[in-house]
Amino acid sequence: MSKVLITGGAGFIGSNLAKALVKDGNEVVVVDDLSMGQIENLAGLDLEFLEHDVTDKEFMHHLLRRYKFDYIFFLAAVASVADSVERPLETHAVNQEAVLDTLEFIHHDDLPLKRFVFTSSAAVYGNLPDMPKSETTRCQPLTPYAVDKYASERFTIDYEGLYGIPTVAVRFFNVFGPNQNPESPYSGVLSIITDKLKNDEIFTLYGDGSQTRDFVYVADVVKALRLVATKTPKATVYNVAQGGETSLLDMIRIYEKVAGKKLKIKQMPARKGDITKSVADISKIKSIGFKPDWPLERGLRVYWEYEN
Ligand code: UD1
Repeated sequence: MSKVLITGGAGFIGSNLAKALVKDGNEVVVVDDLSMGQIENLAGLDLEFLEHDVTDKEFMHHLLRRYKFDYIFFLAAVASVADSVERPLETHAVNQEAVLDTLEFIHHDDLPLKRFVFTSSAAVYGNLPDMPKSETTRCQPLTPYAVDKYASERFTIDYEGLYGIPTVAVRFFNVFGPNQNPESPYSGVLSIITDKLKNDEIFTLYGDGSQTRDFVYVADVVKALRLVATKTPKATVYNVAQGGETSLLDMIRIYEKVAGKKLKIKQMPARKGDITKSVADISKIKSIGFKPDWPLERGLRVYWEYEN
């Protein structure tokens, strides 16, 4: 049994991780200010929930000293790229300063941590045409969100090189599954489609649907997070994806088959800055034992059943 801190643990990916870790008997503490996360995501789980903001330095320092965690999964973030463009200072405080503060507290107090896991995003790759994206592909962070994620990755990795704190960072591609809130227009496309299909409402397709994404089911993401926390040989960054490319139209076709109904679609011009192609090279994380178990159709089937 390990003592684990999940910041942002009431959010989409954090709550799925919390569930898996609790199920395996770990002592889990979740810190979440519920700005994006939802307490219902943690219903029935045997864990300690602290409703708090990770930018509160005193609180974080005290928490780390008190619990002496084995593992820290840093998932708290302003997760919307659009939000970061609107509010760069506020997002910077969460997406970068709070990460650095946490690393610094661990360093200063010489806490006996087994691994600090920082969660970054494929957004760091920007809109360069090089595909598939491997961890050595050029990065082009184009928004405050991407710049902060990229810098926090680097801080995370450097804290092992400079101060001997075991760390690792991951770059998520397009994660889907239960507990993703469909309410914002910037929610993941699959949470929006699920909601529209369920309620027989019209889905707005931006662009012609030929844009591709590397969709990965959240259970595979949870598996990857646990793997990098325990198996990474030294601080580095890993892509977390399925390693396959699917166009939006193909994904919709597969989902309609799974759900047994047609999605009503209204087409609009492509979003400004939308990425036309995205696919990950996942050979690096595979080299430490990752094997995705959830091809798109299987993930969609379980997600649809969960939502209905
Ligand atoms: C995702 C991330 C983003 C990150 C980027 C990095 C999410 C929610 N966003 O953006 O934080 O910077 O990867 O590569 O995970 N779409 C529609 N209709 C909708 C919603 C979306 O047609 O109602 C389209 C979008 O225009 C886009 C595609 O679906 O072409 C996927 O959109 P989305 O799920 O928002 O993800 P990304 O744009 O890949």
